[in-house]
Amino acid sequence: MSTQPSSEVQSVNGFDSPSDALAYIHSPVVQGLERVKTSLRDMVNHKSPFLAQLLDHALETKGKRVRPTLTLLAAGFHPNDGKRAETMATAVELLHIASLIHDDTVDQSEVRRGRATISKVWGGNAAVVLGDYLFATSATYVCDTGNIRVIRRFAETIKELSSGEMEEMVVRYDAEQSREQYFTRIYEKTASLFTTATESGAVLSDAPESTVKLLRDYGYSLGMAFQIVDDILDVEGLTDEIGKPVGNDLRHGVLTLPMILALERWPDSTVIRDYFAEPSDETLLESAMELISDPKVITDSYAVAEQYCQSARDSIMELPKNRSRDSLEALIDYVVVRRS
Ligand code: FPP
Ligand code: MG
Repeated sequence: MSTQPSSEVQSVNGFDSPSDALAYIHSPVVQGLERVKTSLRDMVNHKSPFLAQLLDHALETKGKRVRPTLTLLAAGFHPNDGKRAETMATAVELLHIASLIHDDTVDQSEVRRGRATISKVWGGNAAVVLGDYLFATSATYVCDTGNIRVIRRFAETIKELSSGEMEEMVVRYDAEQSREQYFTRIYEKTASLFTTATESGAVLSDAPESTVKLLRDYGYSLGMAFQIVDDILDVEGLTDEIGKPVGNDLRHGVLTLPMILALERWPDSTVIRDYFAEPSDETLLESAMELISDPKVITDSYAVAEQYCQSARDSIMELPKNRSRDSLEALIDYVVVRRS
């Protein structure tokens, strides 16, 4: 798909809506996902009432559960009892939730998934410590898999998440970044965990190395497409859809693909650079937002996401066709048409 999905387009390859597509994607691993949810819910019963309250807020979210779904689906290409993949899927989801809590604290974001952030309600200090608690808990789940390769990869992912976040801080309000710098940043920030989610599922199912590689490559490409679409939705989505304010990236000086493509397409336009030099100027912000919302920029941005989607498709086409593969395939289309 190289065309831009408009907000009216709600069908995904035969499904009536993105949520129907998501239900189809989840269906082969719905029991595993239910057990992940139960593990998260059980964590809320903590002896400290304050921590229990924070855990309740953090873990009772209506997320799409994309990352644990990837781990569970990736374990579906080699016979196994599924238990280690479920343990890993719990770790992956906890790591994701923890990193968002830290991200919202760093960014001073007030709303996530349509709800107040932990840092907004309980303050930055409590949010940082809660994030640490969840990171540490995720690590105990990974250790429970007993697989050193997966434990190492998980630790490397935390390093990549942190270095991606750090890089984003350093390059704020810098309009001179290349596409390559952007791709490295979104790999670290997002695709790294997607890669780990699929790779670990495959490793823990004892799949052969050739299968592990295909699923790792799929996770990488899907993660890149996912973050590019996230960055597009920040420009052309609606606040009610994405559950957080639109235009956040531009407002905070985070250079994303739509901005890079607008700068490439109109090298003589100075609005983005002018806004980055004068971030308190709301008129410049509006002009820059208008430039990057241009349909040509949005279409070009979706075309780049589609290249990653095609790589993801190429990777899984070499896997045996089964229900897990069907879901992984549907997930590629879902990532592009989703509105949240
Ligand atoms: C959200 O992306 C941010 C991330 C996926 C990564 C955040 C990583 C950290 C805060 C580092 C983690 C720290 C430790 C100790 C492991 P985004 O900002 O593009 O998305 P958003 O617009 O939804 O906030
Ligand atoms: Mg953020």
